Amino acid sequence: MPDTAHTYVAAIDQGTTSSRCIVFDGDGAIVAVDQREHRQIFPRPGWVEHDATEIWSKVQAVVAGALAKAGLRANQLSALGITNQRETTLLWDRATGKPVHNAIVWQDTRTADLCEDLGGADGQDRFREQTGLPLASYFSGPKASWLLDNVPGLRERAERGEIAFGTMDSWLIWNLTGGPDGGRHVTDVTNACRTMLMDLRTLRWDSAICAAMNVPEAMLPEIRSSAEVYGTAVGQLAGVPVASALGDQQAAVFGQACYDVGSAKNTYGTGSFLLLNTGERPVPSKNGLLTTMGYKIGDEAPVYCLEGSIAITGALVQWFRDQLGIIRSADEIESLAASVEDNGGAYIVPAFSGLFAPYWRSDARGVVTGLTRYVTKAHLARAVLEATSWQTREVVDAMYQDSGVRINTLKVDGGMTANNLLMQHQADVLGVPVIRPKISETTCLGAAYAAGLATGVWNSLDELKAHWAKDAEWTPRMEDSVRDREYRNWRRAVEKSFGWEE
Ligand code: G3P
Repeated sequence: MPDTAHTYVAAIDQGTTSSRCIVFDGDGAIVAVDQREHRQIFPRPGWVEHDATEIWSKVQAVVAGALAKAGLRANQLSALGITNQRETTLLWDRATGKPVHNAIVWQDTRTADLCEDLGGADGQDRFREQTGLPLASYFSGPKASWLLDNVPGLRERAERGEIAFGTMDSWLIWNLTGGPDGGRHVTDVTNACRTMLMDLRTLRWDSAICAAMNVPEAMLPEIRSSAEVYGTAVGQLAGVPVASALGDQQAAVFGQACYDVGSAKNTYGTGSFLLLNTGERPVPSKNGLLTTMGYKIGDEAPVYCLEGSIAITGALVQWFRDQLGIIRSADEIESLAASVEDNGGAYIVPAFSGLFAPYWRSDARGVVTGLTRYVTKAHLARAVLEATSWQTREVVDAMYQDSGVRINTLKVDGGMTANNLLMQHQADVLGVPVIRPKISETTCLGAAYAAGLATGVWNSLDELKAHWAKDAEWTPRMEDSVRDREYRNWRRAVEKSFGWEE
């Protein structure tokens, strides 16, 4: 028997607002956590950037912090896994390892017009068959193209092979394994598929799409599986195998043990991302979902998912706190919302940067409907929380239409799952139980699991599945007639969010 109590795997989660490092033991239990936020840079309305150098130093700090809290030295780690905010796009100079521009964040809408031009007569679905994605400002390929067009001299340098492209997984692996002195320039399938440049079936860069988007293949990383040793770390983690990379939502699928076809999870963060395991074949979507990679373990067959991406959920609570000042801390929203029976007729559609799934409308903007003098800040607090559950209901409906799979329970994770009122409403509007696991840090856990599988810490998915344990469950109790009426009202509010101009 391996000594699971003295086996350790670390995972780095490089997220949209912060980076964290968690050390797990061989039973998948958390030993230590460290986390640091980084700056959000908003140069213009709709633009969002990150300083990748700042992110790399925060990542180094959280690794040091987690090791110190765990009382461990690097050489006691069996493996390191990486998970990351997806789509956020960075270009750097291969010779110096320095970024040539801030990273353009997934939420950034500057490429909306570029995407419309790229679609031409075929519209949003021009590359859907190969990539599973609609042309939208969310994805990385057009962001890279924008940088090449807007940073003077960059396109020529990229064509000469001097520039490297990467999402945050590539940036971290490059730096962890040696930077300009020999860092590996790789990505995994779950991150590569979000560039809109990878063919979902071949798992290779699609030359025709790269050419159409004007992205030189010379700058793209090598596409690898999600669980294999990409290289050995240098610096503070010297000697530790860097052994997994997964986009954060796919890592959560893995950490939630959604290994069976038909299993699904929803992660509630800045936005929410609901992924359904569809097995070894990509299922095309006709209802506004993304067809995406789930994970690929070493040489095994890839696993695909359908994804409902919702851009704004937790970020609406932040807006309610920071821009409106109605609450002082995010958790205050639960008691404020609980002080009234219902939403008083008010609905908030948080289309702050258009609407993602299932609509993909960049012309949508946020609306509040149903206001009367009866409505108080407590009703609005309810409407804020309900916006999350209704948006989730819409992607669950689309999943059923696309796959024929009815989700009979929903596994949830992420910060907002601490909100009981929201989780009850989620179960009510879906009409199925909502279940939260004991380890709600599923993103880091998934990256650690994949790294541990690649290095022999764990040997099978069944072994990982046995770690999963329930912490809380909410069962539906809303009457059908109420649910149906509320859903109709929500959809009418959504329609009001369409068609706004800058
Ligand atoms: O696709 C964007 C997603 O990966 C971001 O996740 O948790 O960093 O907001 P998060």
